[in-house]
Amino acid sequence: MLEILQSPSLAEKTTLRIGGRAIAEVVARSGKACEALPETLRRLGGVPHVMGAGSNILARDGELPIVLVRPAVRDMPEVVGEAAGKTLVHAGAGVRMPRLLGFCAEHGLSGLEGLCGIPGTVGGAVAMNAGSYGCETCAAVHSVEIFELKQGFMTLAAREIKYGYRHIAVPGNINEFIILGVTFGLTPAERGGIKKLMAFNFLKKKSTQPVAAHSAGCVFKNPEGGLSAGRLLDQAGLKGKRCGGMAFSHIHANFLVNEGGGSAAAAFDLIAQARESVSRRFGINLELEVRVAPWPSR
Ligand code: EPU
Repeated sequence: MLEILQSPSLAEKTTLRIGGRAIAEVVARSGKACEALPETLRRLGGVPHVMGAGSNILARDGELPIVLVRPAVRDMPEVVGEAAGKTLVHAGAGVRMPRLLGFCAEHGLSGLEGLCGIPGTVGGAVAMNAGSYGCETCAAVHSVEIFELKQGFMTLAAREIKYGYRHIAVPGNINEFIILGVTFGLTPAERGGIKKLMAFNFLKKKSTQPVAAHSAGCVFKNPEGGLSAGRLLDQAGLKGKRCGGMAFSHIHANFLVNEGGGSAAAAFDLIAQARESVSRRFGINLELEVRVAPWPSR
C-alpha cells in the first residue's frame, strides 16, 4: 500500500531546510506498493519528483506543482551471492548510505570507502552517482531494480546504466523512474584496512566540509580541467557571504548553508552573486550541482 501525505513541506524534507509545499508525498515501503503508483499519480496530478533523503535538493519557495515520490524500501544490506570475484550485496533504495558502509566495514567488503560521510540514501546515491575521494557510487553497482511508470518493474545491469560526474542516464524519463533496490559488487578485503580508510575519509570530510550544517552538499559542480568550484568561490571572496539566513560556509565556500530562517529566494540571490563574481574574475560559468526542485523533465 502506498502512503499519501497531503501538502508536505519541502523545508521539512530536505537537509537544506528550505522550500515550499508540494501537492502531496507518496511513500512506497515495498516494490509491490509501486503497482498502484501510476494510477495514484494520475489522480493526484502534478509532476512526480522522486526523492531519497533530500540531501542534494534546493527546493523553491511557494506552492510547487509536484508530487514527491519516496521509495522507502528499507531491505537491510545482505550478501546475496558472488560474481566475477566480487561479493554481491543487496540493499533497499531507502537504506541510508552510512548503514550500507557500516555493513561493508563489518563484512570486509571494499569499494565504497570514499563515500563515508555522505548522508543520502542508497537510491539517491545511485541516482546522482554520488562521489567523494576518488570513489563513485555507480562504479560499484552490479544491478539496479527499478519501477518505471510506463513499463513497470525492471532490473538494469550495470552496463545498461550510463553514468558520469554526479549524473546517470537510464532509458526513459528520469521523473518516471524509481530505484527500489541496488546490488553492489564489492571486493573482499581485510576489515581493519577498510575501517581505517573510512575513518580517515570521514575525518578529512569533517575537517574540510561543514558536515553538521543544514546544507545540500556542494552547490556547484567542479568545472572541467581539475578546477575546484570551492577554491574559485573562496578566491572570489564568497566564503562566509550571507544573505537572508543563507550563507556560503566559512569552512568550504562551495557549501551553501541555511543558518536559520533561510529561503530559496535568498539562496538564489547568493548563487547569482557567486556566478557573477566567478565569471567576472575567472571567466568561468559555474553550473549547479544541487538539483533544483521543481526540476525539468529529462
Ligand atoms: N578549497 C579552498 N577553499 C574552499 C574550498 C576548497 O581553497 O573554500 C580548496 C581545498 O583546499 C582543496 C581544493 O580546493 O585544495 C579542493 O577542495 P576539496 O578537497 O574540498 O574538494 P572539492 O573539489 O571542493 C569535491 C566534491 C565533493 C567531495 C570532495 C571530496 C564536487 C562539486 N565536490 O569537492 O562532493 O566530497 O571533492 O572528494 O564535486 C558534493 O558532491 O556535494 C560534494 C561535497
